[in-house]
Amino acid sequence: MNAEGRPTVYIETYGCQMNVSDSELMYGHLEAVGYTPVGGPDGADVILVNTCAIRDHAEQRVLGRLGELKRFMGRNTVLGVTGCMAQRLGPALLERARHVQLVVGPDGYRALPALIEGARKGERATKVEFDLEEHYEDFQARRFDGVRAWIPVQRGCDYKCTYCIVPMTRGAERSRTLADVEREACTVAEQGITEITLLGQTVNSYHDGAHDFADLLRSVGRTPGIRRLRFTSPHPNDFTDRAIAAMAETPAVCEHVHLPMQSGSSRTLKRMLRRYTRETYFECVERIRAAIPGVALTTDIIVGFPGETDDEFEETLSAVREIGFDDAFTFRFSLRDGTPATRLPAHLTVPDDVAADRLDRLVSLVRDGTRARNLSMLGTRHEVLIEKTARRGGLLQGRTRHHRTVLVQGEESLMGKYFTVELTGTTGSTFTGAIASAGHALPLAG
Ligand code: SAH
Ligand code: SF4
Ligand code: F3S
Repeated sequence: MNAEGRPTVYIETYGCQMNVSDSELMYGHLEAVGYTPVGGPDGADVILVNTCAIRDHAEQRVLGRLGELKRFMGRNTVLGVTGCMAQRLGPALLERARHVQLVVGPDGYRALPALIEGARKGERATKVEFDLEEHYEDFQARRFDGVRAWIPVQRGCDYKCTYCIVPMTRGAERSRTLADVEREACTVAEQGITEITLLGQTVNSYHDGAHDFADLLRSVGRTPGIRRLRFTSPHPNDFTDRAIAAMAETPAVCEHVHLPMQSGSSRTLKRMLRRYTRETYFECVERIRAAIPGVALTTDIIVGFPGETDDEFEETLSAVREIGFDDAFTFRFSLRDGTPATRLPAHLTVPDDVAADRLDRLVSLVRDGTRARNLSMLGTRHEVLIEKTARRGGLLQGRTRHHRTVLVQGEESLMGKYFTVELTGTTGSTFTGAIASAGHALPLAG
């Protein structure tokens, strides 16, 4: 209980932005029925761990954390597990962790208040049915970031990439209506937020029956007060010319695309069931670059997928070199129970040491590329939005429209403001900069 005698809730979030956004929805929903959000588990009446199942490592971390959380629990504390791992493991999680009382998947958050009430009376419950209608439209997301907002536009995924657990943890793809997304964009703009990131597993396959992703970008991009519009993650196959034109023609849309490649080898991509080839991925990059000169490109890459030969891995390295990504998230393949990859013949498994070695080589290649590009940018000036205080002492952290991180000196009062910043140094991945002049006091229209 807090000082006013209201019960408190703490949500610890793992995984992708979609989970961060779901946690905001859960906080909002629980706040509406009388709970007060708190910033840590100590003394909280309700602790929820919003989990990720994408790689085994992510799940191991959560299992370890559930053990640690025991020491924050009093006699009446309710501990629940939500999110993708809850969906994947269901009742088995209640068996495995006896102090967990609730296991609730991504479509079950509407039931949380009732489930928590039950748990207070000693019940243990699992709720993991999918609900293809559920978008939580009537929830008021409780946002803690006053500068940027993440707005989910789509839930679930209809691709069936053979390595991926997400279709099993999030169910089939469905889009919110354009009107609902517009309404939320206006709400966050009225709160003074000027940057929006639209979220979906394959965000550019957005379709509400009447409007596609191009309509969505143009419409949200027109929200008064919204100066920067981003989205993540698009799928290469869903980048229509209409969508690319909408990006190029909507001033708010930032010059950055995170375009997961996964592999540079058409043969590996085929086993991954990514539904594009090296060549069509390159074509997609070319179309984006032609429409948006200077666009920053980042990506996701998996190494060690079953059957990946040395030659196939070399093709990934050459793709990274040829495309010249600004940055890449790189992962070692993790076999997930129930995914189609489990049915690939065992002899295709890439040995751990080979996969580890490939990851090292890929990471250095990406790092070298990023460092060279960043060094070449020193002395140039960029519009930076100050987002938060940096972990490094006394500095503020912001981003350029191209999504490059810049640390600057300044007072906390600069938070949420735009400045022209000269890049003065780089660690290789991030920049330090000096504020050259204040940006426009008012967000640009359009
Ligand atoms: N929907 C997004 C990806 C979501 S998961 C998309 O399709 O682009 C984020 C990233 O995790 C993926 O892009 C992939 O690179 C990585 N990933 C997913 N499953 C994985 C697995 N089983 N092992 C290793 N990496 C994985
Ligand atoms: Fe997973 Fe593929 Fe869907 Fe992305 S597109 S969430 S990688 S199945
Ligand atoms: Fe993880 Fe679920 Fe996101 S598996 S990456 S939290 S959709």
